[in-house]
Amino acid sequence: MNALSGLIRRLERAETLDRLARPLTAAIGRAVRPRAVRNLLSGTDLGHPLHPMLTDLPIGAWGMSALLDAVGGRSAERSADLLMAAGVLAAVPTAAAGLNDWSDTYGADTRVGLAHATINTAALGLYVASLSLRAHGKRTRGKVIGLAGFAVLLAGSYLGGHLSFARGVNVNRTAWQQGPRDWTPVLPDADLPEGEHRVVAAAGVPMLLHRTAGTVRALANTCSHMGGPLDEGTIAEDRVTCPWHGSTFRLADGAVVRGPASSPQPRYETRVSGDRIEVRAVD
Ligand code: FES
Repeated sequence: MNALSGLIRRLERAETLDRLARPLTAAIGRAVRPRAVRNLLSGTDLGHPLHPMLTDLPIGAWGMSALLDAVGGRSAERSADLLMAAGVLAAVPTAAAGLNDWSDTYGADTRVGLAHATINTAALGLYVASLSLRAHGKRTRGKVIGLAGFAVLLAGSYLGGHLSFARGVNVNRTAWQQGPRDWTPVLPDADLPEGEHRVVAAAGVPMLLHRTAGTVRALANTCSHMGGPLDEGTIAEDRVTCPWHGSTFRLADGAVVRGPASSPQPRYETRVSGDRIEVRAVD
């Protein structure tokens, strides 16, 4: 384990951070309770989370302003200022989407997210200070503060990458759940009465089976949002709601009816053959 990995490990285990993180995530969760706001910030209608897409805007603008500050000369000063200001503006919706995602995390993910948000807020503060210095004619100091902001931003970006690619935060938890290609028996037909549900497994995929009006529906049981167990949620009106953050999916086709999930639940074909319920992946 290198020094950086060791540092991240300590951050992940720093339970003392929970005293700050828990009330903050709870407050953010309450603030984004309006469903339309939550769906928007979560990327529910987009098909994947909104935050990673938005991060390109401030990082790109601030990266280019750092380049112009470093090697652009006097003729590039106005462009550097404009890019820095654009980055500050773009950081506002980016942070809002990120805070919304953070409010759904638990444990080590929440601690790393707290550090990620704190470092990025520090970078934003340095950019605002840099813009102020430039506006007051103190360009050299403004450049130094701006370049310091870029260095801080890179540290925050590293933690963002760690959350996504090392810890899998907001990655579709069903992305690799294919299910069986051929019809596979999973349950005696008599074991699934009308209006009830069961969890079965086929080809390594846990599935939620539910019978409505005689029809058996099958969805992946692992919530695509962050892996919640759908069988422990509520089923009503041909929809299942995840117990962890309230994402709701249509049983008929797995479509997201309500976020924060942005990926649909994989659905599987079902049939009754003899006295067994069988399932297979949809082509
Ligand atoms: S795990 Fe978040 S809504 Fe299911």
